[in-house]
Amino acid sequence: MSGDQHEASELPGMPDMLPGPTGRPLRTFPEPAPLSSHGPARIIALCNQKGGVGKTTTTISLGAALAEYGRRVLAIDFDPQGALSAGLGVASHDVPTIYDLLIGREKDIRQTIQSTSTPGLDVVPANIDLSAAEVHLVNEVAREQILARVLRPVLDEYDVILVDCQPSLGLLTVNALTAAHGVLIPLECEYFALRGVALLVETIEKVKDRLNPALELDAILATMYDSRTLHSREVLQRVVDAFGDSVLETVIGRTVKFPDATVAGTPITTFAPDHPAAGAYRQLARELIARGHAA
Ligand SMILES: Nc1ncnc2c1ncn2[C@@H]1O[C@H](COP(=O)(O)OP(=O)(O)OP(=O)(O)O)[C@@H](O)[C@H]1O
Ligand SMILES: [Mg+2]
Repeated sequence: MSGDQHEASELPGMPDMLPGPTGRPLRTFPEPAPLSSHGPARIIALCNQKGGVGKTTTTISLGAALAEYGRRVLAIDFDPQGALSAGLGVASHDVPTIYDLLIGREKDIRQTIQSTSTPGLDVVPANIDLSAAEVHLVNEVAREQILARVLRPVLDEYDVILVDCQPSLGLLTVNALTAAHGVLIPLECEYFALRGVALLVETIEKVKDRLNPALELDAILATMYDSRTLHSREVLQRVVDAFGDSVLETVIGRTVKFPDATVAGTPITTFAPDHPAAGAYRQLARELIARGHAA
């Protein structure tokens, strides 16, 4: 790490800062000022067609951390596995879901919104019904714009809307990208992390070009980082080499606290509020606010 140390000491005005895992000085982002009013929401899609990289965990934990800072957050479960609904401990069966909104069986998104145990964090649930949505919507007019239309009535009531995408680049994910202002890509720090990212970036570019000119690739979040393994450090270095400043300084470490929190149906920020992993997601919330990606 001596090279990194050298680099850090050359940055003007920050002589005492030690490099963080991404090789840049580890800053502590300021506690955000409280908001005096709410909305309109910035919509962020959490996307990666690779499975198990931390999309759902990040939606839950970031949503809860933003809510702790007084932000009004709506999380959309956009995966038929319903992991977001389960992880937030809300009902997803015998209740109206995102699927009912997409196919027009339910017209009012407010009828589908459930509050969670975290004040300020609400969710629209999903269940396995959503797996039929792509087939159902394929012949719809403006089939890529359905989620954007569904969310419109509540934009002014929230500061941030997080869309937890399924691991695919199909029509649901294209709907999320068409509705979104920004994309956050969680990347697991393991050998094949970068495989498929080019295709994801290409998809984001296509959606921007054809459907949603305002779409931004906000940032890449390294997850499941294990500082004890050379492997994790090398992968993170390669991600930084490939994406530069798009890689967030905040890095999420690997810990069993996340699966434990999922089982408890509670965000890490309340399940283990003093654990470094909860601190990492609070830091993520502060970094996104500081970068202007969240209110
Ligand atoms: N930082 C972490 N450390 C250890 N385990 C984690 C971490 N983040 C997530 N996990 C666990 O890894 C598994 C996959 O995480 P998660 O469900 O968030 O990924 P995903 O990208 O949403 O997956 P899918 O593509 O299936 O929707 C879960 O069991 C989760 O509890
Ligand atoms: Mg998921």
